Amino acid sequence: MTDTKKILELSKKYETPFYIYDGTIIESQYTNLVNAFSNTSKVQVNYAMKALSTISILQFMKQLGCCVDTVSINEVKLALTAGFTTEEIFYTPNGAPFNEIFEVYNMGVHITLDNLIQIEQIAQLNATKGIAVRLNPNIEAGANEKIKVAKKDSKFGLPLTDIDNLKKISNKYSLHIDGFHIHLGSGIADISSFKESAQVLFDIAKQFKGLKFINFGGGFKVQYTEEDTFINIQEIGTVLSDIFNTFKKEYKEDILLILEPGKFLVSNSGKFITEVSTVKGQNVFVNSGFNHLIRPMYYDAFHQITNISSTEKSNKDYHIVGYICEQDSFGENRRLTKPHVGDIICIENAGAYCFTMASNYNARLRPMELFMYNNETKIIRNKETFENLLLNQVY
Ligand code: LLP
Repeated sequence: MTDTKKILELSKKYETPFYIYDGTIIESQYTNLVNAFSNTSKVQVNYAMKALSTISILQFMKQLGCCVDTVSINEVKLALTAGFTTEEIFYTPNGAPFNEIFEVYNMGVHITLDNLIQIEQIAQLNATKGIAVRLNPNIEAGANEKIKVAKKDSKFGLPLTDIDNLKKISNKYSLHIDGFHIHLGSGIADISSFKESAQVLFDIAKQFKGLKFINFGGGFKVQYTEEDTFINIQEIGTVLSDIFNTFKKEYKEDILLILEPGKFLVSNSGKFITEVSTVKGQNVFVNSGFNHLIRPMYYDAFHQITNISSTEKSNKDYHIVGYICEQDSFGENRRLTKPHVGDIICIENAGAYCFTMASNYNARLRPMELFMYNNETKIIRNKETFENLLLNQVY
Protein backbone atom coordinates (compact mmCIF):
# COMPACT_ATOMS: atom_id res chain seq x y z
CA MET A 1 0.00 0.00 0.00
CA THR A 2 1.05 3.53 -0.76
CA ASP A 3 2.07 4.82 2.66
CA THR A 4 0.81 7.91 4.39
CA LYS A 5 4.21 9.61 4.61
CA LYS A 6 4.70 9.32 0.89
CA ILE A 7 1.24 10.71 0.15
CA LEU A 8 1.83 13.65 2.47
CA GLU A 9 5.13 14.36 0.69
CA LEU A 10 3.42 14.19 -2.70
CA SER A 11 0.65 16.49 -1.56
CA LYS A 12 3.31 19.10 -0.76
CA LYS A 13 4.96 18.62 -4.13
CA TYR A 14 1.80 18.56 -6.29
CA GLU A 15 -1.31 20.63 -6.04
CA THR A 16 -4.29 18.70 -4.63
CA PRO A 17 -6.65 17.18 -5.58
CA PHE A 18 -5.00 14.36 -7.49
CA TYR A 19 -5.44 10.68 -8.18
CA ILE A 20 -2.57 8.31 -7.46
CA TYR A 21 -2.37 4.70 -8.66
CA ASP A 22 0.05 2.09 -7.36
CA GLY A 23 1.37 -0.22 -10.11
CA THR A 24 2.49 -2.89 -7.66
CA ILE A 25 -1.13 -3.39 -6.56
CA ILE A 26 -2.34 -3.67 -10.16
CA GLU A 27 0.45 -6.15 -10.83
CA SER A 28 -0.39 -8.31 -7.83
CA GLN A 29 -4.12 -8.31 -8.68
CA TYR A 30 -3.24 -9.43 -12.21
CA THR A 31 -0.94 -12.18 -10.93
CA ASN A 32 -3.57 -13.41 -8.44
CA LEU A 33 -6.14 -13.58 -11.18
CA VAL A 34 -3.95 -15.46 -13.64
CA ASN A 35 -2.70 -17.85 -10.94
CA ALA A 36 -6.27 -18.59 -9.88
CA PHE A 37 -6.98 -19.81 -13.41
CA SER A 38 -3.74 -21.75 -13.77
CA ASN A 39 -5.69 -25.02 -14.24
CA THR A 40 -7.06 -23.67 -17.48
CA SER A 41 -4.81 -24.37 -20.44
CA LYS A 42 -5.58 -21.13 -22.25
CA VAL A 43 -6.75 -18.03 -20.41
CA GLN A 44 -6.64 -14.44 -21.56
CA VAL A 45 -7.33 -11.29 -19.52
CA ASN A 46 -9.07 -8.49 -21.40
CA TYR A 47 -8.76 -5.44 -19.15
CA ALA A 48 -12.10 -3.55 -19.19
CA MET A 49 -10.59 -0.14 -19.82
CA LYS A 50 -13.78 1.76 -18.98
CA ALA A 51 -12.61 1.40 -15.35
CA LEU A 52 -9.49 3.52 -15.92
CA SER A 53 -8.40 4.41 -19.42
CA THR A 54 -5.41 6.70 -18.93
CA ILE A 55 -2.85 5.78 -21.59
CA SER A 56 0.00 5.04 -19.15
CA ILE A 57 -2.27 2.62 -17.28
CA LEU A 58 -3.14 0.90 -20.56
CA GLN A 59 0.56 0.60 -21.36
CA PHE A 60 1.17 -0.92 -17.95
CA MET A 61 -1.64 -3.43 -18.56
CA LYS A 62 -0.18 -4.39 -21.92
CA GLN A 63 3.21 -4.92 -20.39
CA LEU A 64 1.62 -7.20 -17.74
CA GLY A 65 0.17 -9.33 -20.54
CA CYS A 66 -3.41 -8.09 -20.81
CA CYS A 67 -5.48 -7.60 -23.92
CA VAL A 68 -8.13 -4.92 -23.69
CA ASP A 69 -11.93 -4.70 -23.72
CA THR A 70 -13.45 -1.54 -25.20
CA VAL A 71 -16.98 -0.18 -25.58
CA SER A 72 -16.55 2.75 -27.93
CA ILE A 73 -14.48 3.65 -30.96
CA ASN A 74 -12.61 6.22 -28.89
CA GLU A 75 -11.64 3.57 -26.35
CA VAL A 76 -10.38 1.54 -29.32
CA LYS A 77 -8.31 4.53 -30.48
CA LEU A 78 -6.92 5.08 -26.97
CA ALA A 79 -5.92 1.41 -26.81
CA LEU A 80 -4.19 1.70 -30.19
CA THR A 81 -2.41 4.82 -28.97
CA ALA A 82 -1.21 2.86 -25.93
CA GLY A 83 0.33 0.28 -28.26
CA PHE A 84 -2.21 -2.55 -28.32
CA THR A 85 -2.51 -4.22 -31.72
CA THR A 86 -5.95 -4.64 -33.28
CA GLU A 87 -5.76 -8.39 -32.47
CA GLU A 88 -5.38 -7.49 -28.80
CA ILE A 89 -8.43 -5.21 -28.77
CA PHE A 90 -11.96 -6.52 -28.20
CA TYR A 91 -14.97 -4.28 -28.73
CA THR A 92 -18.19 -5.04 -26.82
CA PRO A 93 -20.60 -2.20 -27.58
CA ASN A 94 -24.16 -1.99 -26.34
CA GLY A 95 -26.40 0.19 -28.47
CA ALA A 96 -23.58 1.87 -30.42
CA PRO A 97 -24.66 3.09 -33.86
CA PHE A 98 -23.94 0.64 -36.67
CA ASN A 99 -21.60 2.98 -38.56
CA GLU A 100 -19.28 3.00 -35.51
CA ILE A 101 -19.47 -0.79 -35.19
CA PHE A 102 -18.63 -1.21 -38.86
CA GLU A 103 -15.71 1.21 -38.63
CA VAL A 104 -14.27 -0.72 -35.68
CA TYR A 105 -14.85 -4.04 -37.45
CA ASN A 106 -12.94 -2.73 -40.49
CA MET A 107 -10.06 -1.66 -38.27
CA GLY A 108 -9.52 -5.37 -37.60
CA VAL A 109 -10.68 -5.25 -33.99
CA HIS A 110 -12.64 -8.24 -32.70
CA ILE A 111 -16.29 -7.34 -32.16
CA THR A 112 -18.99 -8.81 -29.91
CA LEU A 113 -22.60 -7.88 -30.68
CA ASP A 114 -25.75 -8.38 -28.68
CA ASN A 115 -28.73 -7.85 -30.97
CA LEU A 116 -30.04 -9.53 -34.12
CA ILE A 117 -30.48 -6.36 -36.18
CA GLN A 118 -26.81 -5.38 -35.97
CA ILE A 119 -25.66 -8.99 -36.33
CA GLU A 120 -27.64 -9.20 -39.58
CA GLN A 121 -26.32 -5.81 -40.72
CA ILE A 122 -22.75 -7.06 -40.33
CA ALA A 123 -23.63 -10.38 -42.00
CA GLN A 124 -25.17 -8.61 -45.00
CA LEU A 125 -21.87 -6.85 -45.63
CA ASN A 126 -20.22 -10.20 -46.35
CA ALA A 127 -18.32 -10.15 -43.09
CA THR A 128 -15.47 -12.58 -43.61
CA LYS A 129 -14.08 -12.26 -40.10
CA GLY A 130 -15.94 -13.94 -37.26
CA ILE A 131 -17.89 -12.06 -34.61
CA ALA A 132 -18.83 -13.05 -31.07
CA VAL A 133 -22.23 -12.75 -29.44
CA ARG A 134 -23.04 -11.46 -25.98
CA LEU A 135 -25.87 -13.35 -24.31
CA ASN A 136 -28.47 -12.31 -21.77
CA PRO A 137 -28.57 -15.25 -19.35
CA ASN A 138 -31.39 -13.85 -17.22
CA ILE A 139 -29.35 -13.84 -14.00
CA GLU A 140 -29.62 -11.13 -11.37
CA ALA A 141 -26.20 -10.26 -9.94
CA GLY A 142 -24.34 -7.06 -9.12
CA ALA A 143 -23.70 -4.62 -6.30
CA ASN A 144 -26.73 -2.42 -7.05
CA GLU A 145 -29.61 -2.04 -9.52
CA LYS A 146 -27.65 0.25 -11.85
CA ILE A 147 -24.92 -2.30 -12.43
CA LYS A 148 -26.92 -5.53 -12.69
CA VAL A 149 -26.83 -5.94 -16.44
CA ALA A 150 -27.84 -9.54 -17.12
CA LYS A 151 -31.38 -9.52 -15.77
CA LYS A 152 -34.35 -10.54 -17.91
CA ASP A 153 -35.33 -7.68 -20.23
CA SER A 154 -32.08 -5.84 -19.58
CA LYS A 155 -30.78 -3.81 -22.53
CA PHE A 156 -27.65 -5.98 -22.59
CA GLY A 157 -27.13 -9.30 -24.30
CA LEU A 158 -29.02 -11.38 -26.82
CA PRO A 159 -32.04 -13.08 -25.22
CA LEU A 160 -31.69 -16.87 -25.33
CA THR A 161 -34.99 -17.00 -27.21
CA ASP A 162 -33.15 -15.37 -30.15
CA ILE A 163 -30.64 -18.22 -30.54
CA ASP A 164 -32.63 -19.99 -33.29
CA ASN A 165 -32.75 -16.77 -35.29
CA LEU A 166 -29.04 -16.26 -34.69
CA LYS A 167 -28.42 -19.68 -36.24
CA LYS A 168 -30.62 -18.77 -39.22
CA ILE A 169 -28.68 -15.54 -39.85
CA SER A 170 -25.37 -17.29 -39.42
CA ASN A 171 -26.38 -20.02 -41.95
CA LYS A 172 -28.00 -17.66 -44.42
CA TYR A 173 -24.98 -15.37 -44.72
CA SER A 174 -22.22 -17.81 -43.72
CA LEU A 175 -21.43 -15.58 -40.79
CA HIS A 176 -18.88 -17.20 -38.51
CA ILE A 177 -19.82 -16.93 -34.84
CA ASP A 178 -16.47 -17.36 -33.12
CA GLY A 179 -17.24 -16.72 -29.47
CA PHE A 180 -19.89 -16.27 -26.78
CA HIS A 181 -19.80 -13.70 -24.03
CA ILE A 182 -21.66 -12.96 -20.80
CA HIS A 183 -21.05 -10.07 -18.45
CA LEU A 184 -23.34 -10.26 -15.43
CA GLY A 185 -22.73 -6.99 -13.66
CA SER A 186 -20.22 -5.32 -11.38
CA GLY A 187 -19.28 -6.03 -7.76
CA ILE A 188 -20.28 -9.71 -7.61
CA ALA A 189 -18.96 -11.75 -4.69
CA ASP A 190 -21.11 -14.82 -5.03
CA ILE A 191 -19.64 -17.63 -7.07
CA SER A 192 -22.95 -19.33 -7.82
CA SER A 193 -23.96 -16.54 -10.26
CA PHE A 194 -20.77 -17.13 -12.24
CA LYS A 195 -21.38 -20.89 -12.22
CA GLU A 196 -24.89 -20.37 -13.49
CA SER A 197 -23.64 -18.06 -16.20
CA ALA A 198 -20.94 -20.56 -17.28
CA GLN A 199 -23.64 -23.20 -17.64
CA VAL A 200 -25.68 -20.94 -19.93
CA LEU A 201 -22.57 -20.12 -21.97
CA PHE A 202 -21.64 -23.76 -22.44
CA ASP A 203 -25.20 -24.91 -23.24
CA ILE A 204 -25.33 -22.37 -26.08
CA ALA A 205 -21.70 -22.82 -27.13
CA LYS A 206 -22.20 -26.59 -27.66
CA GLN A 207 -24.66 -25.78 -30.42
CA PHE A 208 -22.06 -23.89 -32.50
CA LYS A 209 -18.97 -25.25 -34.23
CA GLY A 210 -15.70 -23.43 -34.73
CA LEU A 211 -15.78 -21.22 -31.63
CA LYS A 212 -12.47 -19.64 -30.67
CA PHE A 213 -13.37 -18.37 -27.21
CA ILE A 214 -15.78 -18.18 -24.33
CA ASN A 215 -15.79 -14.87 -22.46
CA PHE A 216 -16.93 -14.92 -18.81
CA GLY A 217 -16.94 -11.11 -18.52
CA GLY A 218 -15.83 -9.18 -15.44
CA GLY A 219 -17.59 -8.12 -12.25
CA PHE A 220 -15.31 -9.69 -9.60
CA LYS A 221 -15.98 -7.87 -6.34
CA VAL A 222 -13.19 -6.19 -4.41
CA GLN A 223 -13.26 -4.99 -0.81
CA TYR A 224 -14.14 -1.38 -0.13
CA THR A 225 -13.78 -1.80 3.65
CA GLU A 226 -12.16 -4.39 5.87
CA GLU A 227 -15.56 -5.90 6.73
CA ASP A 228 -16.75 -5.87 3.12
CA THR A 229 -17.38 -9.11 1.21
CA PHE A 230 -15.18 -9.82 -1.79
CA ILE A 231 -14.76 -12.50 -4.38
CA ASN A 232 -12.55 -15.44 -3.47
CA ILE A 233 -10.57 -15.35 -6.68
CA GLN A 234 -8.78 -18.61 -6.03
CA GLU A 235 -12.07 -20.40 -5.53
CA ILE A 236 -13.76 -18.90 -8.56
CA GLY A 237 -10.67 -19.69 -10.63
CA THR A 238 -10.81 -23.34 -9.61
CA VAL A 239 -14.58 -23.65 -10.08
CA LEU A 240 -14.72 -21.96 -13.48
CA SER A 241 -11.58 -23.73 -14.73
CA ASP A 242 -13.11 -27.11 -13.84
CA ILE A 243 -16.36 -26.34 -15.67
CA PHE A 244 -14.41 -24.95 -18.63
CA ASN A 245 -12.08 -27.94 -18.84
CA THR A 246 -15.04 -30.34 -18.84
CA PHE A 247 -16.68 -28.32 -21.61
CA LYS A 248 -13.44 -28.28 -23.59
CA LYS A 249 -13.17 -32.07 -23.53
CA GLU A 250 -16.71 -32.40 -24.85
CA TYR A 251 -16.30 -29.64 -27.41
CA LYS A 252 -13.17 -31.26 -28.84
CA GLU A 253 -11.80 -28.04 -30.34
CA ASP A 254 -9.11 -25.77 -29.03
CA ILE A 255 -10.85 -22.91 -27.28
CA LEU A 256 -9.74 -19.94 -25.21
CA LEU A 257 -11.24 -18.70 -21.95
CA ILE A 258 -11.40 -14.91 -21.65
CA LEU A 259 -11.91 -12.87 -18.48
CA GLU A 260 -12.83 -9.20 -18.64
CA PRO A 261 -12.24 -7.50 -15.29
CA GLY A 262 -12.02 -3.78 -14.63
CA LYS A 263 -12.49 -3.15 -10.87
CA PHE A 264 -10.60 -6.27 -9.83
CA LEU A 265 -7.43 -5.02 -11.50
CA VAL A 266 -7.48 -1.33 -10.60
CA SER A 267 -9.93 -0.39 -7.84
CA ASN A 268 -7.64 -0.94 -4.83
CA SER A 269 -4.64 0.56 -6.60
CA GLY A 270 -6.05 4.08 -6.53
CA LYS A 271 -6.39 6.82 -3.96
CA PHE A 272 -7.96 10.22 -4.43
CA ILE A 273 -6.12 12.89 -2.49
CA THR A 274 -7.97 16.05 -1.48
CA GLU A 275 -7.48 18.85 1.04
CA VAL A 276 -9.78 20.36 3.65
CA SER A 277 -10.99 23.81 2.53
CA THR A 278 -13.17 24.60 5.50
CA VAL A 279 -15.16 23.03 8.31
CA LYS A 280 -18.72 23.96 9.25
CA GLY A 281 -20.39 22.01 12.07
CA GLN A 282 -20.34 18.38 11.02
CA ASN A 283 -19.37 19.22 7.41
CA VAL A 284 -15.76 18.91 6.33
CA PHE A 285 -15.41 20.53 2.91
CA VAL A 286 -12.66 19.29 0.59
CA ASN A 287 -11.33 20.93 -2.57
CA SER A 288 -13.24 18.58 -4.85
CA GLY A 289 -16.73 17.30 -5.52
CA PHE A 290 -18.74 14.62 -7.27
CA ASN A 291 -17.45 16.05 -10.54
CA HIS A 292 -14.22 14.19 -9.66
CA LEU A 293 -15.53 11.08 -7.93
CA ILE A 294 -19.23 10.37 -8.35
CA ARG A 295 -19.57 6.80 -7.00
CA PRO A 296 -20.89 7.73 -3.51
CA MET A 297 -23.48 10.08 -4.99
CA TYR A 298 -24.48 7.88 -7.91
CA TYR A 299 -24.39 4.38 -6.45
CA ASP A 300 -24.40 5.13 -2.69
CA ALA A 301 -20.97 3.50 -2.82
CA PHE A 302 -18.93 3.44 0.39
CA HIS A 303 -15.32 4.58 -0.01
CA GLN A 304 -13.08 4.62 3.02
CA ILE A 305 -11.96 8.13 3.96
CA THR A 306 -9.16 9.16 6.29
CA ASN A 307 -7.61 12.39 7.44
CA ILE A 308 -3.95 11.52 7.05
CA SER A 309 -2.60 14.84 8.36
CA SER A 310 -4.04 14.70 11.83
CA THR A 311 -3.62 12.17 14.60
CA GLU A 312 -5.77 14.15 17.06
CA LYS A 313 -8.59 11.83 18.11
CA SER A 314 -12.08 13.22 17.84
CA ASN A 315 -15.32 11.92 19.29
CA LYS A 316 -17.41 13.41 16.50
CA ASP A 317 -18.63 11.99 13.21
CA TYR A 318 -18.26 14.14 10.13
CA HIS A 319 -19.71 14.44 6.64
CA ILE A 320 -16.99 14.79 4.01
CA VAL A 321 -18.54 17.05 1.41
CA GLY A 322 -17.57 18.78 -1.82
CA TYR A 323 -17.92 22.18 -3.47
CA ILE A 324 -20.66 21.30 -5.98
CA CYS A 325 -23.89 23.34 -5.88
CA GLU A 326 -26.12 20.44 -4.82
CA GLN A 327 -25.93 17.63 -2.29
CA ASP A 328 -22.36 16.51 -2.81
CA SER A 329 -21.02 14.02 -0.36
CA PHE A 330 -18.10 11.58 -0.37
CA GLY A 331 -19.10 10.00 2.95
CA GLU A 332 -21.54 10.66 5.77
CA ASN A 333 -21.10 10.21 9.52
CA ARG A 334 -17.46 9.23 9.37
CA ARG A 335 -15.19 9.18 12.40
CA LEU A 336 -12.20 11.23 11.24
CA THR A 337 -9.28 12.44 13.26
CA LYS A 338 -9.89 16.10 14.09
CA PRO A 339 -10.00 18.04 10.80
CA HIS A 340 -8.27 21.38 10.20
CA VAL A 341 -8.11 23.56 7.11
CA GLY A 342 -5.28 22.23 4.91
CA ASP A 343 -5.42 18.63 6.18
CA ILE A 344 -5.02 15.93 3.55
CA ILE A 345 -8.06 13.70 3.10
CA CYS A 346 -7.52 10.40 1.36
CA ILE A 347 -10.36 8.55 -0.39
CA GLU A 348 -9.68 4.85 -1.03
CA ASN A 349 -10.59 2.49 -3.88
CA ALA A 350 -10.30 5.34 -6.34
CA GLY A 351 -8.78 3.32 -9.16
CA ALA A 352 -11.92 2.10 -10.92
CA TYR A 353 -14.72 4.22 -12.33
CA CYS A 354 -13.56 7.38 -10.60
CA PHE A 355 -11.42 9.39 -13.01
CA THR A 356 -13.23 7.89 -16.03
CA MET A 357 -16.58 9.08 -14.66
CA ALA A 358 -15.31 12.60 -13.84
CA SER A 359 -16.87 15.67 -15.48
CA ASN A 360 -16.58 19.44 -15.75
CA TYR A 361 -19.80 20.16 -13.82
CA ASN A 362 -19.75 23.64 -12.27
CA ALA A 363 -16.94 24.43 -14.76
CA ARG A 364 -14.52 22.60 -12.49
CA LEU A 365 -11.36 21.14 -13.94
CA ARG A 366 -10.48 17.45 -13.92
CA PRO A 367 -7.50 16.73 -11.65
CA MET A 368 -4.00 15.42 -12.16
CA GLU A 369 -3.20 11.68 -12.14
CA LEU A 370 0.01 10.18 -10.76
CA PHE A 371 1.39 6.67 -11.12
CA MET A 372 3.74 4.98 -8.66
CA TYR A 373 5.82 1.92 -9.39
CA ASN A 374 9.13 0.67 -7.97
CA ASN A 375 9.48 3.73 -5.75
CA GLU A 376 9.15 6.08 -8.68
CA THR A 377 6.24 8.46 -9.08
CA LYS A 378 5.34 10.12 -12.35
CA ILE A 379 2.61 12.36 -13.68
CA ILE A 380 0.44 10.47 -16.15
CA ARG A 381 -2.06 13.25 -16.75
CA ASN A 382 -1.83 16.92 -16.03
CA LYS A 383 -4.64 18.82 -14.37
CA GLU A 384 -6.95 20.46 -16.91
CA THR A 385 -6.68 24.18 -17.50
CA PHE A 386 -9.28 26.85 -18.19
CA GLU A 387 -8.51 26.42 -21.92
CA ASN A 388 -10.00 22.91 -21.77
CA LEU A 389 -13.33 24.52 -20.90
CA LEU A 390 -13.19 26.82 -23.95
CA LEU A 391 -12.21 24.08 -26.37
CA ASN A 392 -14.88 23.51 -29.05
CA GLN A 393 -17.09 26.32 -27.82
CA VAL A 394 -18.25 28.67 -30.59
CA TYR A 395 -18.72 32.23 -29.42
N1 LLP B 1 -17.23 -6.24 -19.41
C1 LLP B 1 -18.29 -5.51 -19.75
C2 LLP B 1 -19.00 -5.80 -21.00
C3 LLP B 1 -18.72 -4.47 -18.91
O1 LLP B 1 -19.77 -3.73 -19.26
C4 LLP B 1 -18.01 -4.21 -17.72
C5 LLP B 1 -18.42 -3.14 -16.83
C6 LLP B 1 -16.88 -4.99 -17.41
C7 LLP B 1 -16.53 -6.02 -18.28
C8 LLP B 1 -16.04 -4.79 -16.18
O2 LLP B 1 -16.75 -4.91 -14.99
P1 LLP B 1 -15.95 -4.82 -13.59
O3 LLP B 1 -14.99 -6.00 -13.55
O4 LLP B 1 -15.21 -3.53 -13.58
O5 LLP B 1 -16.98 -4.90 -12.53
N2 LLP B 1 -19.42 2.41 -12.95
C9 LLP B 1 -19.82 1.27 -12.14
C10 LLP B 1 -19.44 -0.03 -12.78
C11 LLP B 1 -20.02 -0.17 -14.17
C12 LLP B 1 -19.51 -1.34 -14.89
C13 LLP B 1 -19.94 -1.30 -16.31
N3 LLP B 1 -19.45 -2.40 -17.06
C14 LLP B 1 -19.19 1.41 -10.75
O6 LLP B 1 -18.49 2.40 -10.50
O7 LLP B 1 -19.44 0.57 -9.87
